[in-house]
Amino acid sequence: MEESFISNAKEILAKDTSVVPEFWQKKYRNEASKNWDKFYNRNTTNFFKDRHWTDREFEELRAGHVFSESKPVLLEIGCGVGNFIWPILERNPDIYVYACDFSRRAVGFVQANENYDEKRVRAFVCDITKDRLADTIPPHSVDIVSAVFVFSALPPEKQADAVSNIIEILKPGGRILFRDYGMYDLAQLRFKSGHKLEENLYVRQDGTLSYYFSTERLRELFVRHGGLVELENDYVVKRLVNAKLKIDSDRIFAQAKFQAPIDTQAIEAAMTSTKLTSDVDSTLAMNI
Ligand SMILES: C[S@@+](CC[C@H](N)C(=O)[O-])C[C@H]1O[C@@H](n2cnc3c(N)ncnc32)[C@H](O)[C@@H]1O
Repeated sequence: MEESFISNAKEILAKDTSVVPEFWQKKYRNEASKNWDKFYNRNTTNFFKDRHWTDREFEELRAGHVFSESKPVLLEIGCGVGNFIWPILERNPDIYVYACDFSRRAVGFVQANENYDEKRVRAFVCDITKDRLADTIPPHSVDIVSAVFVFSALPPEKQADAVSNIIEILKPGGRILFRDYGMYDLAQLRFKSGHKLEENLYVRQDGTLSYYFSTERLRELFVRHGGLVELENDYVVKRLVNAKLKIDSDRIFAQAKFQAPIDTQAIEAAMTSTKLTSDVDSTLAMNI
């Protein structure tokens, strides 16, 4: 990102000095699954398009990519109605996919899809910030975890819990593929006053949360807290021009790849040394 862009973005964000009152803050943070359920009630399967770009961005998702000797296993967290998984299942005939979401309605849509084949996919309801993935998926058995526009829906104080949860089911050498909103994204800059909960965290009109990630925040979560190895961690900038809507600005995404150490004992050691304590929480909060 160019310096002039960053200083302009900082100036815009600095003007928004108000934060949502505490009562509403609590409500939005605690009622996230209810608000996403309502979202799928209103939009059914029509809101997001199938994500056909994922193999362009992540080589691990290309047809024929070899992960290990056994058949590859992928977990998509916050799968919504399955827009990420359907193209992958079609492209990779050998892959087995777990898909979870905390919206019952979304999971119901995945299960009702004509492409849902229980031999190849298992969709289940799970709040990744509190329900153990290892209760459904064997520990250290997943090659790839995809986190596509889901961490932004988590309040920052729960993001580290989600990372710990994922690590329990990740294979040694397994990877997390991350893509989400980046700091100074157009959507962040366009929030009107009255939507900010805290720095980089906003609530949309429909009550769902939207957090904007810096690469440093990702490092804090996945490397310092999670003990994973950083393979990639950067911003993807896409110019958006729409004369009718008078938009000429940047969509900014944070895209990253993290890998579990090859040695399982190293993972467990990293996990025990970074078990969530209020200290870790406050370090994370300070580094946002
Ligand atoms: C923007 S949608 C992305 C859907 C999908 N990953 C895709 O790429 O199309 C975010 C999804 O995350 C889910 N979600 C948010 N918080 C969650 C949580 N704590 N546990 C599980 N799913 C969650 C929401 O219900 C929603 O379906």
